[in-house]
Amino acid sequence: MRRIAFGCDHVGFILKEEIMAHLNARGVEVVDKGTWSQERTDYPHYASAVAQAIINGEVESGILICGTGVGISITANKFPGIRAVVCSEPYSAQLSRQHNNTNVLAFGSRVVGLELAKMIVDAWLDAAFEGGRHQTRVEAIAAIEREKN
Ligand code: RB5
Repeated sequence: MRRIAFGCDHVGFILKEEIMAHLNARGVEVVDKGTWSQERTDYPHYASAVAQAIINGEVESGILICGTGVGISITANKFPGIRAVVCSEPYSAQLSRQHNNTNVLAFGSRVVGLELAKMIVDAWLDAAFEGGRHQTRVEAIAAIEREKN
């Protein structure tokens, strides 16, 4: 069974609950890394928890939600091996899997509604990395990461 970790801040909390229910219904196991209420908090904590769960092998990938998806994806991308994409439509979500082998999907609860968010998540989950010439490019990203850290 696929295991996906979720993280959000207070602005993304309601949408996180709805998307976790959507994925449960799809037979995906979800691991909730918070936040767990609408009380004001800071997105870097939850981006870090999800990134760490991927790096540790606890989950295969993660979904992050804040107001725009921007802050939470920037944070996740600070972790070596994390390739996070922020999307507000399904096409980029699909291509980010096929070409960039993204392991984190982020979006904003102030940007997309529930039905569009479900379409983005489904497009991302249903797409697979194509390898080949894209593998070389993803490896080049990893090489830059090693060189700069
Ligand atoms: C919180 O006000 C907001 O800044 C946050 O949810 C997110 O949009 C940051 O990128």
